[in-house]
This record gives sequence, C-alpha cells and structure tokens, in this order.
Amino acid sequence: MTSKSKVLVSTVLPSDLLARIEAEYEVAQFPSSHVFTADSIGDHSDIVGWLTTVKQPVNADILSQLPSLTTVSNYAVGYDNVEVGEATERGVQICNTPGVLDNAVAEVAVGAILSSVRGLSRAERFVRAGEWAGGNAFPLTADVHGKVLGILGMGRIGKRIAPVAQALGMTVLYHNRTPIAGVVPGDATHVSRSELLERSDVVLLLVPLTEETKGFIGADDFAAMKDTAFFVNPARGALVDEDALIAALQTGVIAGAALDVMTIEPLPASSPLMELDNVVLLPHIGSATVETRRAMADLAVDNLLDSLAGSQPRGAVNN
Ligand code: DGY
Repeated sequence: MTSKSKVLVSTVLPSDLLARIEAEYEVAQFPSSHVFTADSIGDHSDIVGWLTTVKQPVNADILSQLPSLTTVSNYAVGYDNVEVGEATERGVQICNTPGVLDNAVAEVAVGAILSSVRGLSRAERFVRAGEWAGGNAFPLTADVHGKVLGILGMGRIGKRIAPVAQALGMTVLYHNRTPIAGVVPGDATHVSRSELLERSDVVLLLVPLTEETKGFIGADDFAAMKDTAFFVNPARGALVDEDALIAALQTGVIAGAALDVMTIEPLPASSPLMELDNVVLLPHIGSATVETRRAMADLAVDNLLDSLAGSQPRGAVNN
C-alpha cells in the first residue's frame, strides 16, 4: 500500500469537506489562529498542499522550508498574505476564492455607508447608555439620498454596490486605472482620482492590497476630501495610512469613517480609533456569513484538490 501525500489545513473546515481531502491525502489540521513561522513549518516540510487563511504569511522564508509544496489554496479572495512572485518562482500554484463573497462584502459595505452617514452605531450606543431615556436628543445626521458615492477600485464587489447606492438615491462615481468599457452598473461615471476625492460625500475603498497599493490613501487624500465626507474601507487596512486617517478623524478633516479592516487585526484595545466616536469599527466581517463561508470553503477545497490533481483550479492566481 502506498502512503498518502500530506496536506496542511490551517483552518477549521466543515467535516464533509475535510473528508473530501482526507479521501486522497493525509491531513494535518490546525486552527487559523495557529500561525506558522519558517522554523515551525519545518515540521511539515513534506506537505504537497496547504489550505490556509489570510492570517498566515506565506513568504520566501516559509516556502524555502517546503520543497514538496505545489499548491497553496487561500480561504479568501485576498491573497496579500502570499508572496506570489516567490511562490511562482518555486512552481507553487496560489489559489483564491473570487466571486463567491461579492454579495456578502457588498452588504457590509452598504451597511457601513448607512451606519457612518446616518450615525447608526452611535445612535445605538446613545440608547444603551441611557441618553435617550435621560431625555436627550440624538444629534441630526446627514441624508444618504442625493449624495455622491465615489468608489476607488470598481471591480466585482463595486459592481454589486453601485446599483444599490443608485437605488438609495446616490450618484455613483468611480476611479480605476483603466475605465470600464460600456455601461457600468449603477450608471457609475469614471472620473480622475482627484475629482472623485473632491466630489464624493462617501469615499469607498475597494482596491486589492498589493506591494504597489500599500498606503494607497494618505494624508493628502483625506485633505482633498470634503470636510463633510465619510471614508469607508471594507478592503484591507494596509491600503490606508492609519495614522493619517486617525488625525483626519480627530481634527475634522473628514466627518467620519467606517472600517471593516485595520492595519493590525484584531484591532488592539489601545488603538486611538477606539476613542473616536465618528468611526464605525467592524471586526473584518465582510464575508462572515454561514452561506458565504461555506461557498468559500467549497471553492478553496475544489481549488486545492484540482491543483494537486494537475487540473486548472477555478481560483488560480498565478498560473
Ligand atoms: C477575503 O476573502 O479576502 C476577506 O477579506 C476575508 O479575509
């Protein structure tokens, strides 16, 4: 009897999906909170495949400890945890889960827009703190309808959000390096980055995080926005100079923000963001629904097994 090749699974999967992998491979499973380093991954130097999450760096140091590895299947659409160039050089196929989480992330983005502009989280804190019962009136907020939404990075998720924003009565602008040909959902109009920052009442960041987009939004960008504008980020924390954002929120350079992602996650209790009442803070829940996580897990396992079997996976990032 030939022994099975070994696969590392760095997340908890539904038992039927784990069984699909176990039917063909020996599986070593760890929770996603277990982050391997180059030293500790050496214990698994014989793995051929690795299903993991964005919490796990997959860098040159780690890859150099894994000579048999041919596939990394990321249980996420983002793959900023992976040094793709290093993986490609070593012949390791990287996979992600595009498409299946667009609606879920769009839902959180729309909720974040409404929550920041209409002050929904603040209003809830106001009620729970007994302010309403104490006879105080919640301060007036701003309308969402009639306002301008500017989407930086109009891709699959932006195309889900734009028509919803239009249905809410917003005008939608977007900026991409290359404008989209033809009619864009939500009748979104392409404008320059500077025009988008100047005209938008809500600036929504949906750019993927890469080496080039680290720090994509900084102090100058906040300064270019209206002082009544809201900044919404459901993408990645490292896209933003977080110190500049905090300063802009503290000094009224912009009116508020809603963040589902931060530079350091989980957000440390000592972060100045925690002290600010004009920011909605969410714990990276864009894709966090039962149905969407199941669809992501299905695709991540398909990707892993297809790639290991030599077939083209649906979510292939590098080849
Ligand atoms: C993704 O899939 O990239 C989500 O942000 C979860 O990390």
